[in-house]
Amino acid sequence: VIARDDNLSEETKTLISSLPTYQDSHVKLCKYQGCWYYHNTLQAVINYQRNFQPQDTDIILASFPKSGTTWLKALSVAIVERSKQPFDDDPLTHPLLSDNPHGIVPFFEFDMYLKTSTPDLTKFSTSSPRLFSTHMPLHTFKEGLKGSPCKVVYMCRNIKDVLISDWHFRSKYSNNEVSRSTLESMFESFCGGVSFYGPFWDHALSYWRGSLENPKHVLFMRYEEMKTEPCVQVKRLAEFLGFPFTKEEEDSGSISKLLELCSLGNLSGLEVNKTGKTWMNYDYKSYFRKGEVGDWKNHLTPEMENKIDMIIEEKLKGSDLKF
Ligand code: A3P
Repeated sequence: VIARDDNLSEETKTLISSLPTYQDSHVKLCKYQGCWYYHNTLQAVINYQRNFQPQDTDIILASFPKSGTTWLKALSVAIVERSKQPFDDDPLTHPLLSDNPHGIVPFFEFDMYLKTSTPDLTKFSTSSPRLFSTHMPLHTFKEGLKGSPCKVVYMCRNIKDVLISDWHFRSKYSNNEVSRSTLESMFESFCGGVSFYGPFWDHALSYWRGSLENPKHVLFMRYEEMKTEPCVQVKRLAEFLGFPFTKEEEDSGSISKLLELCSLGNLSGLEVNKTGKTWMNYDYKSYFRKGEVGDWKNHLTPEMENKIDMIIEEKLKGSDLKF
């Protein structure tokens, strides 16, 4: 069992004893504010909620795991970086060429608040605007913003592709072959809503509703739209972040160059991403795989497809959110 309950404060232990919990032969999770966490991730969430000091210019990149977080980070870094040096100046010194997007944009719950409640923020983000990321649902993560009007971007992806991507990712970091039985048990967990950061639909709905309530504060993006209309979507992202492309940039092909820099092919071919690791010892290369829409069709049976579609339809009923 992945217990993940080191570093818990006495207060968090008491809190956990009052929360819904789930344990099987693989994981031990608890449900806090409607979302399932490993125990030590919950400690990090609480550390973040209590101690983070937001700045109004902060940019927060949010997602459910395996929804295209790495891509969103790369695009946002590339967009913001233009304010420091014009895009064409000296691509050899671009931060994305020497570091993985996860090394540049830290996660609140892993990089910053997992081991301490008082991280040295200057270690994580030295320039303005500061870029951070999270997998928390909006209502939980908003508590740490303490009313600050920071910009929040959510990358949403079809649940079936998220599941398949997660299945491959887990196999990679546990050094196992992808196995059908693992997929089947992950499928059941996803459908039951009891998975790390699940239920998926509540996660997506929290950001969807947040984006409708306050479109200047929360931008809802979709992985699939990024794939079909990358130029339109990257312009939308740049405008939302407050770094719109100028007419000159558009005319000189800067958008295509930026997309190329952030493409899966380009990033995964860089030395840092072929050989580097996160401090939690995940190979950077495991964040890059196929990057396709609809890979689930190669792995899920029609029965599985039906079951998950029906659950999603039922869970999203009454909202305008569609998959
Ligand atoms: P697949 O496993 O379907 O290929 P996350 O970044 O949230 O962990 O999500 C990982 C998924 O995003 C993987 O999907 C990965 O291949 C894809 N991905 C990573 N970088 C990408 C990029 N630059 N462009 C498009 N997709 C990317």
